[in-house]
Amino acid sequence: MPVSEWEEETEAALAAAANEGDNSDTKRVYVRRIFSQIAPRYDLLNHLLSFNIDKAWRRRAIATLEWQRAPAGTYVDLCAGTLDVAAELSRQPGFRGHIVGADFAEPMLRAGLGKASRSLVGPVVADALELPLRADSVSGATVAFGIRNVADLDAALREVHRVLEPGARFVILEFTTPRSAIVRALYHLYFHQILPRVGAVVSGHATAYRYLPKSVANFPAEEQLAARMRSAGFADVRWQSLTFGIAAIHSGTKR
Ligand SMILES: C[S@@+](CC[C@H](N)C(=O)[O-])C[C@H]1O[C@@H](n2cnc3c(N)ncnc32)[C@H](O)[C@@H]1O
Repeated sequence: MPVSEWEEETEAALAAAANEGDNSDTKRVYVRRIFSQIAPRYDLLNHLLSFNIDKAWRRRAIATLEWQRAPAGTYVDLCAGTLDVAAELSRQPGFRGHIVGADFAEPMLRAGLGKASRSLVGPVVADALELPLRADSVSGATVAFGIRNVADLDAALREVHRVLEPGARFVILEFTTPRSAIVRALYHLYFHQILPRVGAVVSGHATAYRYLPKSVANFPAEEQLAARMRSAGFADVRWQSLTFGIAAIHSGTKR
């Protein structure tokens, strides 16, 4: 394909993919392709661009999961990427369960192999909208920086609800748009100007790190995400803001 056509195609796909309302196949195909392409550099860029704050956020998300209710249970981490959340959960003192790390971009899962014992973490190539798990079969679920990428948010919430046992918790860690005008100005400068440039150079991918700020801007605000979790059947839905409101952890329980 000539370069100009490829650029046109990726620009169009980028615009469609960043739109939360777009549940067409365009988003699915684009998202799977960019993560497959950036997989070898994903961890490096993640920690570099977030100044390592992402690690503390993931630990906080796991603390919210209340896995101690069922330390030997089966857990699922959706959009598991390079398995950071699954590996962190598997390392918790007293945890002796099993974690299914589900992602539809196989290169991301491959890049994470070796972070955790295979007896505790099982990577599975699967779409978050069609989890290969029985209804009422898992003791808890997590998703970090992934739900924003799924083509149909409400369908994904319903799918997680389906696989959870009654009483089990679902924890979402996701970027949010800060409320404070000053923080928002700095955040925009960083997210829209600096991050896409550094991301493009280090990952070698022209649009992946422009997709990130666009997709965050189009993702529902905290109250709206909480309302959609309730509509999907979750009870006791709450959220906590992290680091000046640039990320949030939502949690809910299957009734
Ligand atoms: C930003 S990465 C997050 C990875 C990891 N959770 C973390 O904390 O670093 C988003 C991941 O979601 C995956 N993803 C996006 N949509 C998906 C879907 N519908 N089903 C499964 N995986 C999906 C991508 O392949 C990618 O690995």
